[in-house]
Amino acid sequence: MTQRPILIAPSILAADFARLGEDVAAVDEAGADWIHIDVMDGHFVPNISFGPQLVKAIRGFSDKVFDVHLMIAPADPYLQAFADAGADIITIHAEAGPHLDRSLQAIHALGKKAGVSINPATPESAIACVLDKVDLILLMTVNPGFGGQAFIPSVVEKIRRTREMIGDRPIHLEVDGGISAENASLVAAAGADVLVAGSSIFGGGETSTYAGRIAAIREGALSGLHKAA
Ligand code: DX5
Ligand code: ZN
Repeated sequence: MTQRPILIAPSILAADFARLGEDVAAVDEAGADWIHIDVMDGHFVPNISFGPQLVKAIRGFSDKVFDVHLMIAPADPYLQAFADAGADIITIHAEAGPHLDRSLQAIHALGKKAGVSINPATPESAIACVLDKVDLILLMTVNPGFGGQAFIPSVVEKIRRTREMIGDRPIHLEVDGGISAENASLVAAAGADVLVAGSSIFGGGETSTYAGRIAAIREGALSGLHKAA
């Protein structure tokens, strides 16, 4: 079995908003594969973060993939704005609207990669019918809305089942919420290949620690892959 590369995607929700551009450049330098951008509307999730103008403002600070996670309902009216702002991947929640298939098609029509996310309580069967329409599946490992929450261990079995459901399709399996160097091994062994991490990378607020923190999560994940092999 060929080993999937592990990608680390720091979530800028935990960065220092007063110097966000610099923090994005710093995690890029420190070895981030993607930049994970959490958009919250105070309606689909109980918190508000930022919108497309901010994505546009930080676009110049990194050439890495901008992985935009929309926790907003409805999402359709804003897809174009996020595409124009510089998103490379746009992920929407299956729970956020009645026409998931159409929304995913709309993202592709904008020339962007399309992702679908599900909350911890949503079974993977909710996305079984859109597997041919997605480039990425994002499994929430906390209830979305806030950084710094505890990882929900029951999602590990869902990661395993989702990886099986993906089969040979070229779909990334991303996990998001409470990911650390300690549990990276567990989620990678279950089949995740993209690990989002906010607090465990930006937590200390010290730019000089970012590279070590990213490397520790990556090493944890790779050790999990070896165990699983
Ligand atoms: C939660 C967000 C996550 C969050 C991760 O709603 O989607 O991306 O920022 O933060 P940590 O790693 O601190 O749980
Ligand atoms: Zn996220």
